[in-house]
Amino acid sequence: MLQGTISPMRTVPAHIPRPAYADSGIVTRWAEDRVKSTEIIHRMRHACTMASDVLRLAGEFVRPGITTDAIDVYVHDLCIERDAYPSPLNYSAYPKSVCTSVNEVICHGIPDSRVLQDGDIVNLDVTTYIGGVHGDTNATFFVGEVDPASHELVKVTEECMWHGIEAVRPGRPLSDIGRAIEAHAKKHRYGVVKAFIGHGIGEQFHTDIQVLHYYDPRSTTIMRPGMTFTIEPMITVGAWQHRMWDDDWTAVTTDGKRTAQFEHTLLVTDDGVDVLTGGDGAVSPSAPWSR
Ligand code: MF3
Ligand code: CO
Ligand code: CO
Repeated sequence: MLQGTISPMRTVPAHIPRPAYADSGIVTRWAEDRVKSTEIIHRMRHACTMASDVLRLAGEFVRPGITTDAIDVYVHDLCIERDAYPSPLNYSAYPKSVCTSVNEVICHGIPDSRVLQDGDIVNLDVTTYIGGVHGDTNATFFVGEVDPASHELVKVTEECMWHGIEAVRPGRPLSDIGRAIEAHAKKHRYGVVKAFIGHGIGEQFHTDIQVLHYYDPRSTTIMRPGMTFTIEPMITVGAWQHRMWDDDWTAVTTDGKRTAQFEHTLLVTDDGVDVLTGGDGAVSPSAPWSR
C-alpha cells in the first residue's frame, strides 16, 4: 500500500462535548479508577453501543473504488449525527476520525486518498466519546472478493479475540488473556504483534491497564468486577514485527505481508465478561465462529 494524500482536518460542531485533548492535540493522563462506578458503566454502555453501531455502518460502506478518506468522512458524520465526538480526532495530533488499516498495515492507518481495491482487507477502528466516556471497537472487512489465505487470517484473528474475551474472569490475572490469544494464533502458525496492546478505557481513551495479546507471566494484574478494558489482537501471516511510516502513526509488517485485527471493549462482571461493544450487551457470548 502506498501513502496517499491526507485531506485537511475536519471539525466537530461546538455543541458536541469534546475530550480534553480535542483542541490542543495533547493527551494528559490522570489517575482514573480501574474499577468503574455503576454510573460510569451505564454511560460506557451507551458510548460502546454507539461505537459498535458506527462500526457496523462503516463496514457496510466498504467497497472497491472508495477512498479511505471517504470512510473517514462517513464515520465522522455518523458520530456527529449522534452527538458523539470521534475520539481519534486530534488524539495526540492524530489527524482523522477513524483508523483505516489496509492489508499490511497493522494499525493506526490514516485515512487518505488511497482507493480500496477488490481483494484488499481493511480494518476500521471506531472510537466514540459521548457522556464523558469512550467506547472503542474495530473489525477487519473484506473489500470485494478476497483470496482464501486472507479469509483464513481474518477468521482466525476474530477467533483469537473471542478466545481472549472468554478468558476474562474476575480473580484471574490479565496474563490469561494473552495466553489464550497466543495459543490460538500459534495453532494456525500466525504471528502475534507485541508492540500494540489492549488498554484500560473509560473517561480516558487509554488508561494504565495493559492487556497483552501474548503470554507474559509478569502480567499479574488481577481482573476485578467493574474493570473496563479492550482486547484487540493484531495477527500476522508472517512477521509480527513492525516498521513505522514517517507519518509516525502507520505501523506496517516488516515483511509487507497481511495482518488483521478485531477489538471489543469489555466489562469484567461478577461471573465473567460483558462485551460492551458487542451490540446487545450479552454476557459470556458463545463463541460466534462456531455458530
Ligand atoms: N482505537 C485505537 C485503539 O484501539 C487507538 C487509536 S489512537 C488514534 O486503541 F489516535 F490513532 F486514534
Ligand atoms: Co483500543
Ligand atoms: Co480501537
